[in-house]
Amino acid sequence: MLQDNFGRKFEYLRLSITDVCNFSCNYCLPDGYDCSGARDFLTVPEIKTLVSAFAKLGMKKIRITGGEPGLRKDLTDIIRICRDTPGIEQIAITTNGFNLEKKIAEWIDAGLTHLNVSADSLDPRLFQAITGQQNLESILRGVDKATLLGINNVKINAVLLKTFNLGQIDQYLTWIKHKPVTVRFIELMETGNNKEYFADNHVSGEFIKQNLLAKGWTQVIKDKLAGPAQEFYHPESKGRFGLIMPYSTDFCKSCNRLRVASNGNLHLCLFAEQGIDLRPYLTEDGVDQTCDALLAAMTNKVVGHELAKNFTGATTHLAMLGG
Ligand code: GTP
Ligand code: 5AD
Ligand code: SF4
Repeated sequence: MLQDNFGRKFEYLRLSITDVCNFSCNYCLPDGYDCSGARDFLTVPEIKTLVSAFAKLGMKKIRITGGEPGLRKDLTDIIRICRDTPGIEQIAITTNGFNLEKKIAEWIDAGLTHLNVSADSLDPRLFQAITGQQNLESILRGVDKATLLGINNVKINAVLLKTFNLGQIDQYLTWIKHKPVTVRFIELMETGNNKEYFADNHVSGEFIKQNLLAKGWTQVIKDKLAGPAQEFYHPESKGRFGLIMPYSTDFCKSCNRLRVASNGNLHLCLFAEQGIDLRPYLTEDGVDQTCDALLAAMTNKVVGHELAKNFTGATTHLAMLGG
């Protein structure tokens, strides 16, 4: 069992398989992101050893992230490896949805159980202003297809942005009335490269929460493997609404996840220092040595991030570590 000095248990791994992204969302990459250099991502055999070691130590859920995980040609193989590892109960991805419509059937066939998709606006023009992309309709068709093919409760992520989508919350609430998905608004986080953008766009989610409660929405009790979102349901809505508020006090208290970056570095927090290089252990017969390295690392997990003090550690862009 992976446990830290504060008694928190870790059964949820966020595994980034690439830091490359084909979108350029203005909150994530306001100055672009250099994807031109040579990359040396974890290979499929390395991922197999890594996932086996985590599973041996009680990891039950793996969320595959990026950059954009759908850019890796072997994503389906990676999903299959997770599915074939005893102990792994949930296999999720977080994607910008660019090839969702085309690939979702294949991913589900390989073992995908949960899906989170970014859609920062339901208005195609605003969506393009934020993400630089024109394919909102295809992304939303991909979400519907995933639901039809049996993915329960697809989650839609939108970063809450004062000058872009703050006025769109009612549109999302109308949209989910008849759609069995969960829309989550994420408070914009300050990263190493978005200081000015952050100053113009960050809004607290707290007033949205108070509005929801006033309109008869009720907070859902969380599942043990759930992420940090506070989710709400309403008797007249098929879909749920959620808020991810990393600036709220106590956000880190219930931290249940660890992260591995696409270069094989273990990160004990989204905002921390460079990470611990696991790659030397990820040989074909390296499961036990990887387990030892993971157990040793756990004593270094800090109590929480210091986002409120503008501390972003080594994470200059969330694309580096998949959020
Ligand atoms: P699930 O319950 O598995 O759906 O988890 P999730 O909501 O964490 O998954 P998703 O990848 O959709 O995460 C949405 C966003 O929440 C991330 O991109 C981050 O921006 C934020 N987030 C998730 N985990 C953390 C965390 O531990 N710390 C902080 N500061 N933000 C997080
Ligand atoms: N603040 C909050 N969320 C962010 N994401 C990327 N950058 C930021 C940021 N600065 C989110 C995306 C997506 C997830 C992978 O990370 O919207 O939902
Ligand atoms: Fe947008 Fe995600 Fe790509 Fe960042 S990593 S630019 S949030 S799609």
